Amino acid sequence: MSEPDKHHKGFFHNLDLSAVLTLLGIIILFSTAIVVTLLAPRYVDPTWTAPSSAYQVQMYEVADPNFYISSATAGNPTLQFVYHLKNHYSLLLFHENEALRIVAPPELTQFITKYDEPTMKLTSNLMLLRKPEKNTHFDAIAAADTLRTDALNKWETAHPDWKEKKLVKPTIEILELYTPQGEDAFVVATTNGTIENWIDQNYKILDSSAQQDYHKDHGVIYIYNPQEYRVAHLQFNDTEGWTYDHNGEPIQSLQHLKSHPLGFHSRAELIAEGEHIYAIEGCWYCHTDQTRTLVQDVVANGSDSYPAPPSSANEYIYQKITFPGTRRIGPDLSRVGIKRPSRDWHRGHFWSPKTASQGSIMPAFRHFFDEDPRGTAKNLTGIPNYKFEAIFQYLMTKGTRITPPTQAWWLGKDPINTKAIIEGRGNVPE
Ligand code: HEC
Repeated sequence: MSEPDKHHKGFFHNLDLSAVLTLLGIIILFSTAIVVTLLAPRYVDPTWTAPSSAYQVQMYEVADPNFYISSATAGNPTLQFVYHLKNHYSLLLFHENEALRIVAPPELTQFITKYDEPTMKLTSNLMLLRKPEKNTHFDAIAAADTLRTDALNKWETAHPDWKEKKLVKPTIEILELYTPQGEDAFVVATTNGTIENWIDQNYKILDSSAQQDYHKDHGVIYIYNPQEYRVAHLQFNDTEGWTYDHNGEPIQSLQHLKSHPLGFHSRAELIAEGEHIYAIEGCWYCHTDQTRTLVQDVVANGSDSYPAPPSSANEYIYQKITFPGTRRIGPDLSRVGIKRPSRDWHRGHFWSPKTASQGSIMPAFRHFFDEDPRGTAKNLTGIPNYKFEAIFQYLMTKGTRITPPTQAWWLGKDPINTKAIIEGRGNVPE
């Protein structure tokens, strides 16, 4: 027998039993770990990985993919906001106010909420407002004239001495409610970067059956007085662009809206971009993104009488990267969407933190803006660009994706007992 053969045989033969068992142990441990990793996700609390209530679905679906924002166009420095409405999808409200009245053919009048009516009437049927038009079955122009005369007569009766007092007659805008053709429409959003019109009570949904689950839920998001988004071509020196115009061309499709030169981006796209900016700008170096169950956190992010709900895992489900953070050189941002919803405040703050907040050591983020304020635009701050809009939309999700059934939500909803529960003096009821 040759030398190597003998050696080979001898190797296995000479292995100690304990060595074999150790090897076997390692193999078992390894494969168990793999099996656990593969199986565990099936058994986690589903609220960690998926929306757990119609309310949360609504926050995401209604407010996000339906909302589009465009960059500043030539000659028109302001950002433009547009909703993409689909039949039976979003809830709409047609609400008269002091300066606006609505005319409609008889079959649609039930959808108008009058000026002083306490209950808002909502519908998911696709309807829009436009300047009154005359057509074969309904003459909106004549109806608008009658309505205007009526309203002004009423005003004169209410102010009999208006001539002596030199009061100016109010201007009343009148729009016509109509049903557009097709299954979707693009409408101007009156909002300025704050997405949701939200009501908890005093509303009625007029549809015979709720079209979406979230239409049945407590609290709904609706779109206020939608008017069709139309664009007109504009020429400004040697640059050209498109801008909103009452009498322009209607938008044909989502593709049209997103294409150059209109260049609209959905809110979901901007939020993802904002998350990226938050990472690369190192906001997480100075800010945390978590409300802990500690009294100082829930009170700092809410108030003494209405503490904020502590963060729960499901609030982060839409993020690719999360930034819970460890250091608080600046305040915690997990509820900033509720604490500071004002777009103007953030605009001033990112432009010059020291001006918005005395003694701030936060750096200014001037590259979130275009154009020098001392230039022709004569603005106090620069003109917000995509980076500003992205980080702003990202911040606005903070605190608005809380799920009602969790204990965290319940804690936030019961200000009287919250502090007691967190301090261990009370119990969370069933
Ligand atoms: C060098 C540390 C630092 C960095 C980096 C930083 N911040 Fe701040 N931030 C602060 C400080 C300090 C404050 C508190 C004073 C103030 O309001 O400016 C603050 C305040 C804020 C506030 C107001 C919060 C509130 O509740 O009042 C927001 C919003 C904010 N920062 C967002 C951001 C974002 C987004 C980034 C990244 C683009 C960022 N910060 C980067 C230090 C920082």
